Amino acid sequence: MLLTQAITTEHLTLSNLRPEQAQLLQRYLLDNRQHLAPWEPVRTDAYFDITQCEERLYQQFQQMQHGNGLFLAIMCDEKMIGVCNFSNIVRGVFQACHLGYAIAHTHQGKGLMSEALTAAIQYMFERENLHRIMANYMPDNIRSAAVLERLGFEKEGYAKAYLKINGQWRDHVLTSLINPTATN
Ligand SMILES: CC(C)(COP(=O)(O)OP(=O)(O)OC[C@H]1O[C@@H](n2cnc3c(N)ncnc32)[C@H](O)[C@@H]1OP(=O)(O)O)[C@@H](O)C(=O)NCCC(=O)NCCS
Repeated sequence: MLLTQAITTEHLTLSNLRPEQAQLLQRYLLDNRQHLAPWEPVRTDAYFDITQCEERLYQQFQQMQHGNGLFLAIMCDEKMIGVCNFSNIVRGVFQACHLGYAIAHTHQGKGLMSEALTAAIQYMFERENLHRIMANYMPDNIRSAAVLERLGFEKEGYAKAYLKINGQWRDHVLTSLINPTATN
């Protein structure tokens, strides 16, 4: 599932990062450490080391080769400004996956996350024939809820103590987007 060609939108390029491009990932993570902390698992200092960034990109590369995920760096003016990750891809009668995303604090509030996700979801529906994309958010993540609503995701449930975020088991709202034209 590695992209043969980057996905381009009006303002952005979405591409797979190779392990040798780990510095781009490290810069993005360090610049956004505080911004992302409330919405992600606790990160130790080691998480930001260049060797760990390389290792994570290598693991993502392997997952993509096995068709288990698609991990996209959102690039703007040759800088990494966000991520858009499709993980836990299951084929067959499910044709589904989970979606995770984040954008740099410097690029929030400009419609860029919606722009990136629109293109990435179109790729997953049209090129990868997925039928369901699931995305979950904490009830106080108003910005994330707004992005998903804008893209047409529908609420399907509420999961108590669903993920350990920033050191605490947090409830999540469960949503999904269905591809009406998927074939099997
Ligand atoms: C959640 C997150 C990705 C949303 O990013 P975002 O920039 O708000 O999302 P969008 O790209 O859709 O932009 C929408 C905003 O841009 C504004 N905007 C400006 N120009 C726009 C345009 N041309 N089109 C659409 N929106 C535009 C909208 O008014 C809106 O601003 P507002 O929230 O102040 O009303 C971001 O807040 C983030 O990375 N948060 C931390 C990580 C996180 O929570 N990840 C999700 C976990 S579930």
